[in-house]
Amino acid sequence: MLSILACGSLFFPGLFYGLRKVLKSTFTHWNDADVVAVSERLVSSVHASLATVSGLVVVNTCQNVMTDRHWLVDSFVLFGAPYMLYDISAMYLTHYHQHRLGTSAAHQNHSLQTVKAFLRKERLLVLHHMALLLVFMPIVLFFRRGLGDFFIACFWMTEFSTPFVSLGKILIQFGLENSKLHWINGVMVLASFFTCRILLFPYMYWRYGRQFDIPLHSVPFHLPLHCNVGNLSILAPQVYWFILLVKKARRLYLRKGNAQGPKTE
Ligand SMILES: *[C@@H]1O[C@H](CO)[C@@H](O)[C@H](O)[C@H]1NC(C)=O
Repeated sequence: MLSILACGSLFFPGLFYGLRKVLKSTFTHWNDADVVAVSERLVSSVHASLATVSGLVVVNTCQNVMTDRHWLVDSFVLFGAPYMLYDISAMYLTHYHQHRLGTSAAHQNHSLQTVKAFLRKERLLVLHHMALLLVFMPIVLFFRRGLGDFFIACFWMTEFSTPFVSLGKILIQFGLENSKLHWINGVMVLASFFTCRILLFPYMYWRYGRQFDIPLHSVPFHLPLHCNVGNLSILAPQVYWFILLVKKARRLYLRKGNAQGPKTE
């Protein structure tokens, strides 16, 4: 158990450190803020891909959605736990370097003030990471009586859209928002977000229903109220976020159409 935790503690910061070194020596014209931001996004894409693949493996091997177990679940939760702490510090570093560029205060060092400014700006993300670490992880490891590996794996699959979101941010960072790649990536963001964050919920209900021979539309009536409320409260922000993404995509698309006119391409 401890060795998996130790692996994760070495893997994510190590990868971050290595990427920074490689990027810095490969793209010598990048500034520190670019290097740190891209490294952070690449590591988070790696974490998300690992989570997605683990989720797919577990979801496809569990027959019984309530009781079937898979060794990957506890292992990946342990392996991924240090990622939450690592990612908060990597986000802080990104914020720190960007802020330093913005204020041209190149002499400014780490201080309580820079940490506070970061916490103010990224409050929600920090809270989200801490909740996963301090609430989700103990529940998965100690308080669920071996039930629900399938559903935990489903939640990992929601990470499927993260690498595309990260790539989009990297492209914008380098002024490539009008490139074809950014356009294709935008379609992938929408598609992956829709399948793994929204269609996932009917899928879970469908798998549950299939096991107990209940048609999909009556699954909600067979579940306890708190399960429906729980799922709904996770689904609602995803739908909201998805609508925001669609609006943003529409705006970009319209702007692109106007800017280019009939001459180009
Ligand atoms: C969501 O629904 C499933 C049944 O499909 C249930 O097992 C699970 O506990 C629910 N999730 C939450 C967070 O309530």
